[in-house]
Amino acid sequence: AAEPDLRGRHVVVSAGGTREPLDPVRYLGNRSSGKQGYALARTAAARGARVTLIAANATLPDPAGVDVVHVGTAVQLREAVLKAASEADAVVMAAAVADFRPATYAAGKIKKKDGQEPEPITLVRNPDILAEIAGDRPRPGQVVVGFAAETDDVLANGRAKLERKGCDLLVVNEVGEAKTFGAEENEAVVLGADGSETHVPHGPKEALADTVWDLVVPRFT
Ligand code: C5P
Repeated sequence: AAEPDLRGRHVVVSAGGTREPLDPVRYLGNRSSGKQGYALARTAAARGARVTLIAANATLPDPAGVDVVHVGTAVQLREAVLKAASEADAVVMAAAVADFRPATYAAGKIKKKDGQEPEPITLVRNPDILAEIAGDRPRPGQVVVGFAAETDDVLANGRAKLERKGCDLLVVNEVGEAKTFGAEENEAVVLGADGSETHVPHGPKEALADTVWDLVVPRFT
């Protein structure tokens, strides 16, 4: 059995991928399955934490002993995460949040019209939830963890992103066609704001999740 080193702690984990609706039947989305976030929630519960999982469009079963809040869009995810974060010792943002959403929502299904070119889709920025929480720290001393998917210059881009977002730890995945999204396994580097760099070899998403908690625990103040 796991060491109960998260006993008495409340952790918030976001998982899955947001969907930004265009009309009642269409959305802009991404390939995140939610598996890494669910693994973080399960391992935290196994280590004794009270866990709130904010799940964006994940179709996985709710983990036992975990409070699950289901959301759809980035704006909904933000609201749910901020609400839970005010009494959390750690916030781990594993969800793939859309950076942009359509500027307008069509109440009726968008139709193609004979002989007409399609209307362009105008996008507006979504709030950056991780940067907001890392900057404000809804609870003093809480540990904030972000995720980043990079295709090249993984370490340099990861280090720059960690600084830009202001989080304590950043889990950097290298992504490609068949890598990471929807896969059972993962390989990553966890960067610390203190300059630390922890390489996690290719393995189950549970193993990466446990490494993240191993790095969170000594950062509690
Ligand atoms: O900037 P980028 O999308 O690469 O950052 C990824 C990290 O930031 C993830 O932890 C993700 O959950 C978080 N994020 C967020 N709000 C956004 C975009 C990303 O919290 N609008």
